[in-house]
Amino acid sequence: MLKTTTLTLRKLKGVRPIVAVTAYDTPTARFADAAGVDLLLVGDSVGNVMLGFDSTVPVTLDMMVHHTGAVARANTQALVAADVPFAEAHFDFERVLASCQRLMQVGGAAAVKVEATSAQASLIARLVEAGVPVWGHVGLKPQQIHTLGKYRKFGSTPEEAEGLLDDARALEAAGCFALLLEMTDPAVAARVTAAVSIPTIGIGSGPEVDGQILVSADLLGMTTGYVPGFVRTFADVGAGMTRGFTAYAEAVRQRTFPEPPGADTSESSR
Ligand code: KIV
Repeated sequence: MLKTTTLTLRKLKGVRPIVAVTAYDTPTARFADAAGVDLLLVGDSVGNVMLGFDSTVPVTLDMMVHHTGAVARANTQALVAADVPFAEAHFDFERVLASCQRLMQVGGAAAVKVEATSAQASLIARLVEAGVPVWGHVGLKPQQIHTLGKYRKFGSTPEEAEGLLDDARALEAAGCFALLLEMTDPAVAARVTAAVSIPTIGIGSGPEVDGQILVSADLLGMTTGYVPGFVRTFADVGAGMTRGFTAYAEAVRQRTFPEPPGADTSESSR
């Protein structure tokens, strides 16, 4: 099995769209990999999607290492990238490097994603020099929710559009292997995509980017709370789960499960 690398992804720019999803556990990583997904992000969205928090802010490095390990142990062909969680990328270089080291050495990630602006370009250049592949994240940066006040689209004013282009160019120059554009005005996302030679992967940023990423629970119909308007539900796994739990509950209550003694064919349990 040939592993997807950051180089593989870079070579896909202009060839075909890159397919990325989030994963936080081993089975999801395996199912996504079997479907041919190129890139698995252990996103800090694990906080809202899996852990019951109302933002990504409470997600710690320990939590990220824990979930990255679960995804990395799926041993996928897809490249596994892990989010550097809230505030971590704003400490000094030694601490940021140590955080990335844990995500890669203990967690098993092959790359990290950093919510960044041009202000972090020199820090990112040093990480890249140390052997840490960095995926830069621009546009809406959910870790900023408490300073933003609400999640919103970015790049709608000329100043914001120019700022995004500057950030994208600076992060490319710093050595990022790709850029994630979240909730970026589609016309600006197209300009950024044309302006950089590394792939852009969009979420809520329109079609004129080099790839798309969605939160797996959103695209699988498993999100119980708010789902952004740009999401398409490709399967209703949530409804399938409810059906399964309902059938199980009914079978237990009606004593049709388990089988009567003698009829049980299973020989071992976990
Ligand atoms: O953490 C996450 O899920 C993200 C999304 C934008 C893909 O960064």
